[in-house]
Amino acid sequence: MLTAAGTIERTAGIGPVDRRLFGAFVEHMGRSVYTGIFEPGHPTATPEGFRGDVLDLVRELGVTVVRYPGGNFVSGYRWEDGVGPVADRPTRLNLAWHTLEPNEFGLDEFIRWSAQAGVEPMLAVNLGTRGVQEAMDILEYANHPSGTTLSSERIRNGSPSPHDVRLWCLGNEMDGPWQVGHKSADDYGKLAAQTAQAMRLVDPDIELVACGSSSRAMPTFASWEATVLEHTYDHVDYVSLHAYYENHDDAASFLASAVDMDAFIDELVATCDHVKARLRSKKVLKLSFDEWNVWYQKGYQSTPKPVWEEAPHLIEDDYSVLDAVVVGSYLISLLNHADRVTVACQAQLVNIIAPIRTEKGGPAWRQTIFYPFAQVARHARGQALVLPLVSPQIGSDAYGTVPAVTCAATIDPQHQRLALFLVNRDQNGPIELEVDLRSVGAGEILTHSVLSDPDMHAANSATNPDRVTPKAGDGAVIDGGRLRTVLPPVSFSTLVIGTT
Ligand code: AHR
Repeated sequence: MLTAAGTIERTAGIGPVDRRLFGAFVEHMGRSVYTGIFEPGHPTATPEGFRGDVLDLVRELGVTVVRYPGGNFVSGYRWEDGVGPVADRPTRLNLAWHTLEPNEFGLDEFIRWSAQAGVEPMLAVNLGTRGVQEAMDILEYANHPSGTTLSSERIRNGSPSPHDVRLWCLGNEMDGPWQVGHKSADDYGKLAAQTAQAMRLVDPDIELVACGSSSRAMPTFASWEATVLEHTYDHVDYVSLHAYYENHDDAASFLASAVDMDAFIDELVATCDHVKARLRSKKVLKLSFDEWNVWYQKGYQSTPKPVWEEAPHLIEDDYSVLDAVVVGSYLISLLNHADRVTVACQAQLVNIIAPIRTEKGGPAWRQTIFYPFAQVARHARGQALVLPLVSPQIGSDAYGTVPAVTCAATIDPQHQRLALFLVNRDQNGPIELEVDLRSVGAGEILTHSVLSDPDMHAANSATNPDRVTPKAGDGAVIDGGRLRTVLPPVSFSTLVIGTT
């Protein structure tokens, strides 16, 4: 059997694991909102019309932050359409997705849903068709306590206390030519800086995210950020990055794809720090990886556009064990960059390329990708630690040679827990792993869970919702302060170990 080995040093910390790393995304797109999180009349619906079965799954998933209302949708959105008496709300064209937006769910509903889901709301403002004034208005409506026309309107609409939203995105993917109101880096940078400055006058305590590149493959990647940050560096707290990957009939490359995510983060950090140096700034910018996931975009691009329907089935990808293992490797990448990436949102949450799926009037179920997210959100606490491994190497056409085992470790001194997250990318066989844990004072193994399957294409469905679930791992031992375990081929494992 192939072997991998490494050593954990308690003092070799990367950075604190920010709970905001376990975010998700709800966009007005397809069935994410309507018949996803919101379905009045559903047997499990709350009095507000929120799907109770979905709320339960969101809580189980362990999501901490949810970004809303888009995505591409936000670049043509008038937020006022979604507040006030529902009967008075207009139906609009959702230009991003060629569908109809009934506006039955809007800002106030989202805030109420967030409270019930136990998540922090993260809002995006429209910098595609709108600008400084509308961004100030939505912020005043949401966060100003009382005594102005907009705050009184919120109060009249049933929210006497301010929504107190801290995290705000200054637009979405403004580098993308597909974006309604797409701009050059220079134009967007100036608008984002002015908007940020004005929004901080309304509420100085907000945290702001400037749009970075919508993928590392964008021809403007890095120069876009450099220009945008020249304008915005002093005004924002984060710059965003988005990444979607898929299996192009080449599982080895797909399994290796987290190395692209690693490189994307490292290159963006370098770009931010270059601007920091140029501006002689003392501020260290953080990264908000506010869209990431597996997305079979080839399938989406070959499907005809919806014809101005409400809530059609759109990019409801079915995820396999292979996809879940790859998602596990992205979570590992995020943890290994915990010093700079402190906000991240898996895109999306329900139905649209999502860990949770629903049927209208019917059940909700967990997709395979639910499990690695839930494990990491639950167990990755405290500090992320460096875990250098000597691992067998695997060749891939898209990313060259990569380690067969990728891993992350976190240590939680408060609860005396060490958590290890491990992916075996090798399709040909198990790998034996030995990790020297003597410096953390390892005690007993508290949790050992493994997601793998003889059929890596196996998936869950409405009729077979539990075809794929993580299983209890066996055979892991700690002997003389050294952990020994076997990682099955194409697997994601979580080990939680008590520490002294
Ligand atoms: O998540 C789906 C879409 O992907 C989002 O609307 C957009 O921001 C990205 O291109």
